[in-house]
Amino acid sequence: MNQQLNSIEETEKQKLATDKSILKIWGSSRLQGNVNISGAKNSALPAMAATLLSSEVCRLHQIPCLADINTMGKVLSALGAKIKQNGNTLDIDPRDLDNPEAPYELVRKLRASFFAIGPILARLGVARVPLPGGCAIGARPVDLHVRGLQALGAEVHIEHGMVNAYISGSKKKLQGAKIYLDYPSVGATETLMMAATLAEGETIIENAAQEPEVEDLANLCIAMGANIFGAGTKTIVISGVPKLHSVDYTIIPDRIEAGTFLIAGAITNSDITISPVVPKHLSAVISKLKSVGVRIIQETSDSLRVLHGETLKSTDIDTQPYPGFPTDMQAPFMALLSVCSGSSSMTETVFENRMRHVSELNRMGANIRVKGNHAIVQGVPKLSAAPVVGTDLRASAALILAALAAEGETTFQGLQHLNRGYEQLDIKLQKLGAKLQKVDLVKENHTFPSSI
Ligand code: EPZ
Repeated sequence: MNQQLNSIEETEKQKLATDKSILKIWGSSRLQGNVNISGAKNSALPAMAATLLSSEVCRLHQIPCLADINTMGKVLSALGAKIKQNGNTLDIDPRDLDNPEAPYELVRKLRASFFAIGPILARLGVARVPLPGGCAIGARPVDLHVRGLQALGAEVHIEHGMVNAYISGSKKKLQGAKIYLDYPSVGATETLMMAATLAEGETIIENAAQEPEVEDLANLCIAMGANIFGAGTKTIVISGVPKLHSVDYTIIPDRIEAGTFLIAGAITNSDITISPVVPKHLSAVISKLKSVGVRIIQETSDSLRVLHGETLKSTDIDTQPYPGFPTDMQAPFMALLSVCSGSSSMTETVFENRMRHVSELNRMGANIRVKGNHAIVQGVPKLSAAPVVGTDLRASAALILAALAAEGETTFQGLQHLNRGYEQLDIKLQKLGAKLQKVDLVKENHTFPSSI
């Protein structure tokens, strides 16, 4: 078993988070072969928080090596949990959980660490978590989390940017309740579902988020001894239990990473196979890929193959909560629409500020007009390479995809965003035959082999 988080890994991790290297991408080359899909970031993060509910050591498998996972690891360590990492396996020991306060510096970097407020409160009867604040894609309030915890009987006060929650009364236990979510928020559903596992009595969450990551989190909690029914549907019922036990659990593959590689195959007119995937988790994405003319076949129960297709044509998309078209695929899919003949429309309904990739795509010769959250994408025959900058995780993925299809050499800046959500994207693409290279700006005088 690898030792605790050690200094070498620490430096590696620092590098991930602050990677100022750039990517040089030479486009217009076909990809081929198989690509391995990592565990889902948006499952791994709440899963790590959920281990705080247990009073025994928990083992999680398929945890991707990402900057966000490192940050969540630091949050859990700050709360008193011990973490051991062995490749993509994490052993989390929450027995000595004793500090109810999550550090601002970490929550500011990773919004998802706010979801830990549920498990901390349920375990310790008190929790102090900084308000995560907005991010590049929107204001992202946490009012639904707070109102839900209040419905479960917690006193919650927000002062000086800190959410202070505590359970009054001697029992120090949350009380089961009926909660209707005004919006099927993924994070609020996860926070409240986790908190309710150790509450007294039954909790019903209505208009709950149905994302596969919510269902995966429920399955993890059930494997730890929780009573949860209906996860993956609009109504989740949780019967509280006194305590949760240890677990050895493997999280689901990342459907957004899988969707990103399907588009990499489509935008370069290549033949690639991606696995492991849960095809059902990608239904909305696959249906839109087929509607623009991309050929996709399901070769086995956990793999998908994207094949050379005929000329791609336009389509219209609205992002929606699951099972609708995922907002996290909006930017990557827009890169594809930019080379689909005809006029497509893309409407972002989940986040209020998630069109920041458009101006960079237009720098690469795309023809996209934006009005508020609505974009009209006029397809162009070919994109042309240009220096571009990623502004957030999925916007960065869109620029990489566009660069793979563009003529010439693109210089991409923004690896610190990509490293938050894609495990070794550059190496995986290189293995598929993409012509790209990471350039460490510090060693700028490094000359490129002219043969590339
Ligand atoms: C999760 O964020 C994902 N993050 C996001 O992925 C994803 O885009 C989002 O769900 C939607 O699918 C993780 O799982 C770690 P929400 P979350 O609560 O939970 C509003 C990526 O690229 N809202 O479902 O924060 C909110 O402002 C990331 O991997 C409230 O108004 O999303 C937004 O407009 C980005 N009040 C909408 O709901 C609340 O209390 C959806 O947010 C909570 C949310």
